Amino acid sequence: PPLSRVLNAIEMEEVAKKVLSYKAWAYYSSAGDGEITYAENIRAFSRIFFHARIMRPISQCDPSTTILGFKSSIPVFVSGAALAKLGHPAGEANITRGCGRMGTIQMVSSHASLSYAQIAEARVREDQPLFFQLYKHKDFRAEERVRDVVRLGYNAIFLTVDAPVAGHRERDIHAPFVLAEQEREAERQAGNGTEVDTPQEPDVDEKGEGTAGAMLNSIDRDLSWEKTIPWLRSVTKLPIVIKGIQCVEDAVLAAEAGVDGILISNHGGRQLDYSLPSIDVLYRLRKQRPDVFSKLEVYMDGGVRRGSDVLKALCLGATAVGMGRPFLYAQSAYGEEGVERLIRILETEIVLGMRLLGARNVSELVPEMVEQVNWQPI
Ligand code: FNR
Repeated sequence: PPLSRVLNAIEMEEVAKKVLSYKAWAYYSSAGDGEITYAENIRAFSRIFFHARIMRPISQCDPSTTILGFKSSIPVFVSGAALAKLGHPAGEANITRGCGRMGTIQMVSSHASLSYAQIAEARVREDQPLFFQLYKHKDFRAEERVRDVVRLGYNAIFLTVDAPVAGHRERDIHAPFVLAEQEREAERQAGNGTEVDTPQEPDVDEKGEGTAGAMLNSIDRDLSWEKTIPWLRSVTKLPIVIKGIQCVEDAVLAAEAGVDGILISNHGGRQLDYSLPSIDVLYRLRKQRPDVFSKLEVYMDGGVRRGSDVLKALCLGATAVGMGRPFLYAQSAYGEEGVERLIRILETEIVLGMRLLGARNVSELVPEMVEQVNWQPI
């Protein structure tokens, strides 16, 4: 469909599913084990309802905010996700350009399919901020990687801590074998008689672990509060955010460790299945430890698909939320225009929601405006 007919992030995903290769779809969409956390990340938002305020002048409504001191047109950033080129030849640069034009911030994955320099060069303005998602690999000189991105002008480090080993993403693991089977079937149907009788060797997947397993093989499995944070602080003065906080206790430890922010995340359900939905962790943190929010910036990602989801997280004290798959899908389906369109859609949804909620700016989104219910709407 023409891009103007795509009305929301879910429709964008439907288009992407049609245009993506089998392998790319399997890699992007898959999650750990039974994919329960993946699904519940999304469903958990539907257990939170609003208390809208009325009779408030809302003709002026500003959805912008600052994230780690950097201006952002909406309280949403792109969460770093690997291999954008699987979906579109221009890859991560689509996201860089779309974000640059719309004034939002991209977090670049350690496993991006373009070089960090190519992505930096794709910026539409010299002062366009970029965040860097760091995987600390054992066999790779992590220090050098950080120094490289500092030199390239990246503005913050998001250290991912929820993937010391790769989650078991079964559809991703199956993909090369399903592909080989489909190829054999196609050849049989074409009747050219050149049947292949052994599955083709998948490229990134010698050990049958899926794309993710292959990439996360060499990750440092011994991260710790005592060693890793001081190490990273000694390498860079950039703000440090811990990506992958999954419970209240670790949010408190992060505040004690003196980092600049935490990203409540379960990696989009791709790591530990049955990890609590991110928005529920945020809800608990707000309830149990409101003090944490004054010590650092709190973000969440996982399952955000609508402006209303963004507003719920902001009411619960988040400075901003991240989105992973929706940006991969938007760039896969429509390149950089898709990214721009997605941001515009989110902005429209956020502003509409703020007006109907009675909030003129993000600081007027407060915990009293949301309530978690213990039933699941249809
Ligand atoms: C990811 N994610 C991720 N996280 C990270 O720290 N480094 C990475 O390289 C990747 N790669 C990656 C690839 C793909 C295909 C996906 C879907 C996700 C996790 C990502 O940053 C984010 O936490 C989730 O995508 C958020 O969930 P949603 O928005 O996809 O529901």
